[in-house]
Amino acid sequence: MKSRNNDKIRLAVVGVGNCTSSLIQGIEYYKNARKDDFVPGVMHVDFGGYHIDDIEVVAAFDVDEKKVGKDLAEAIYAEPNNTTVFAQVPPTGITVRKGKVLDGVAKYTADVVPISKQKEVDVVKVLRESGAEAVINFLPVGSQQATEFYAQAAIDAGCGFINCIPVFIASNDAWAEKFKTAGLPVIGDDIKAQVGATITHRTLVNLFLDRGMKIERTYQLNTGGNTDFMNMLERDRLASKKLSKTKSVTSMIEARGQHIDEENIHVGPSDYVPWQKDNKVCFLRIESKHFGDVPMNLELRLSVEDSPNSAGVAIDSIRCMKLALNNKLSGAIIEPAAYFQKHPPKQIEDREARQLVEDFIATYGN
Ligand SMILES: NC(=O)c1ccc[n+]([C@@H]2O[C@H](COP(=O)([O-])OP(=O)(O)OC[C@H]3O[C@@H](n4cnc5c(N)ncnc54)[C@H](O)[C@@H]3O)[C@@H](O)[C@H]2O)c1
Repeated sequence: MKSRNNDKIRLAVVGVGNCTSSLIQGIEYYKNARKDDFVPGVMHVDFGGYHIDDIEVVAAFDVDEKKVGKDLAEAIYAEPNNTTVFAQVPPTGITVRKGKVLDGVAKYTADVVPISKQKEVDVVKVLRESGAEAVINFLPVGSQQATEFYAQAAIDAGCGFINCIPVFIASNDAWAEKFKTAGLPVIGDDIKAQVGATITHRTLVNLFLDRGMKIERTYQLNTGGNTDFMNMLERDRLASKKLSKTKSVTSMIEARGQHIDEENIHVGPSDYVPWQKDNKVCFLRIESKHFGDVPMNLELRLSVEDSPNSAGVAIDSIRCMKLALNNKLSGAIIEPAAYFQKHPPKQIEDREARQLVEDFIATYGN
């Protein structure tokens, strides 16, 4: 099926890394999905009147000389991108433009991300000329200035903003207010993968709480071999990532009136293992006591391909953004953020959040 409105979702992407590669490949891979097909990782093929194939990328920004100036379909496969290739995307006619570098490239990634010598474009002008109505942010962790720059550019160009990284925009009151004042929606922050470490950790914590157990100690250690993990070797860039991932778990504990001391929870990226490429491995442990104060613990190892794991979630976030734009919603959009993002303005338990997204589609969809 095509959009019931013959209406496209005109999207600009910021950062043509592994996540954008999986997103663009996914749009190609599922372009002919039928309404009743099962597509893993998206809630519906027809999402409020919009098909996966209704997402049309109209602008793309990066700074890497191996990507800038290339057709988006070529850039998504360029090194250091190393995620699984599951679709061959034909030329898109969209050339990757050089955005503003700022703090996007850092200590550990500088060697593998050579900065293009091309002139930086006027991002607001490119957004306006492309007719983009939404911008999705996939910059490296710790890109505080660059994310704020692109968020402001989205506002100046009259676009909604989907922030998939742990720099706080939708969950920052001042930024949410800026979008509200501009009459534009913002969804964020820090995308939650389909079945990744965060959702697995939240679910297991809820299982323990449901069964009357106290979470005494827990950790979630993650390793991977993509540039995301390479970049996160720089601990100074990690503060908001750690906070976002930790809050995602502690909010479940606090919602049940329990508490866990800071020294008893450790959640975060732990190491870069080059040969793992885009495979991410999560080691998770929960320590508790059951009846009679008898100690017990749970250990789990989860192995996932990192980038496709969030691409379906990105596709649904983009379609929620379109419904928000169609209905002139502005400021932080709570329901999709709670379901799709790790650090939303308001944390809501996942099953309830999913139902709220269904209600959102029923209210605002076509
Ligand atoms: N994979 C997941 O499931 C997942 C989940 C949550 C959050 N994230 C976040 O999504 C983000 C993207 O992840 P990724 O694996 O695609 O990372 P990546 O390193 O592969 O991609 C980042 C891209 O941004 C580009 N870039 C750097 N500075 C730039 C600038 N100033 N302007 C434009 N482009 C710039 C880089 O050249 C690179 O192409 C990361 O912050 C990651 O933590 C991913």
